[in-house]
Amino acid sequence: MKKINIGIIGLGNVGSALINYIEENHNYFLKKSLINFNIIGISAKNKRKKRNFDINKYRWFDNPINIIKSDDCDVIVELIGDEKGISYDIIKNSLEQKINVVTGNKALIAKNSEDLFKIAEKNNVLLLFEAAVAGGIPIINTLKNNLYLNNIKKISGILNGTTNYILTEMEKNNLSFKEVLKIAKIKGYTSDIEADLDIDGLDSAHKLTILSTICFASTLNFENNEISGISNIKIEDINYANKLNSKIKLISESFIIDNKIYSVTSPKLINNNFSFANVDGVLNAINIETDCLKNLFLEGEGAGGKATSCSVMADLFEIALESKKLSLGHQFNNLNNFEKFDISNIESSYYLRIMAKDIPGVLSEITSSLTDLNISIEKILQIPEDSKYNSAVPIIIVTHKIKKGYLNKAVDKIENLDFVLEKISILPIHQ
Ligand code: HSE
Repeated sequence: MKKINIGIIGLGNVGSALINYIEENHNYFLKKSLINFNIIGISAKNKRKKRNFDINKYRWFDNPINIIKSDDCDVIVELIGDEKGISYDIIKNSLEQKINVVTGNKALIAKNSEDLFKIAEKNNVLLLFEAAVAGGIPIINTLKNNLYLNNIKKISGILNGTTNYILTEMEKNNLSFKEVLKIAKIKGYTSDIEADLDIDGLDSAHKLTILSTICFASTLNFENNEISGISNIKIEDINYANKLNSKIKLISESFIIDNKIYSVTSPKLINNNFSFANVDGVLNAINIETDCLKNLFLEGEGAGGKATSCSVMADLFEIALESKKLSLGHQFNNLNNFEKFDISNIESSYYLRIMAKDIPGVLSEITSSLTDLNISIEKILQIPEDSKYNSAVPIIIVTHKIKKGYLNKAVDKIENLDFVLEKISILPIHQ
């Protein structure tokens, strides 16, 4: 039997769930793995806060740094979640003392962890973060273990549960973005503090940065991301997407093109034939394309205490097994500082919704603006049944593949036409 001594810092939703999970399964873990997952100390900002486990069973540390100093600590689990600050200090301190670290802190790993990985490598300890990406989906270990020798072509995913919940509820209940956001806060999927990170796509981009590093050995460079969120998604677009047998989902994708990195998080139209279209509510999903596997699709709980604890446990297990694998799956010095691919050069089909006055000549002017820039139309729908728009008619256009740069020029031109009544909705179509 082997004992691994664990200090847990941060006792919010995930920290508390982790303690419950270890308490409930301690004997099961021991019998199955011959590992005694032993909590030697806990720490959080507020000792008095009501928690769903008995804190008196554990040694409490007012100052988290003192857990690190205890002689017998093998691993620190950091679940505070600050982008730098105290979370960074705790992790750095632990690694410097040659103590392994497990964290669920995606913003810190994506933006502020380069020095930390260097220290971990130098001191021959691990900094693991399975819980930082897609909650309970074992994506980091899948990439670092099973797919390690594959040549990964592309990774894409629905990496944020809150935004997926909002888009799903808008569609299912015909509600506006603002109405569903309110419900998501009440249900506790997001908070006033987290909401902007979720909605603006930043949380997804943090996770995509981490995935790109593991898949393509790119440096952890958050600046390589091109990000648009979901706050401008209108219920009208969700309904028209439906008419096109599609859903709107916030998709994060990364691949290497012309030796540059393309990392984009953006709402997209997804045809219902794609698995992503059927990922509903707070679920996350990831699709990996490699030289050997056309589409490996993983779907599951992307957040929540229990699911995320399961990922923390996987990392603790790896540490207990004294894995000799590298934290990032690559030597730090072998990471490549890829230049960012200019997304105006990427080709895609697009969905456009143009609100125009219902007068003669509208369609011909719009189509000739597109033709002038060599943009070919795959489908065009004029939907007069929406009487709520009075004299305005929505014109829905699906283009053939075109470079974004050309599309932007055509859109500018069309928006300047007198009969166009509002900003055109543009969404790329997933292929
Ligand atoms: N705010 C995140 C989400 C939590 O909604 O997916 C998990 O990272």
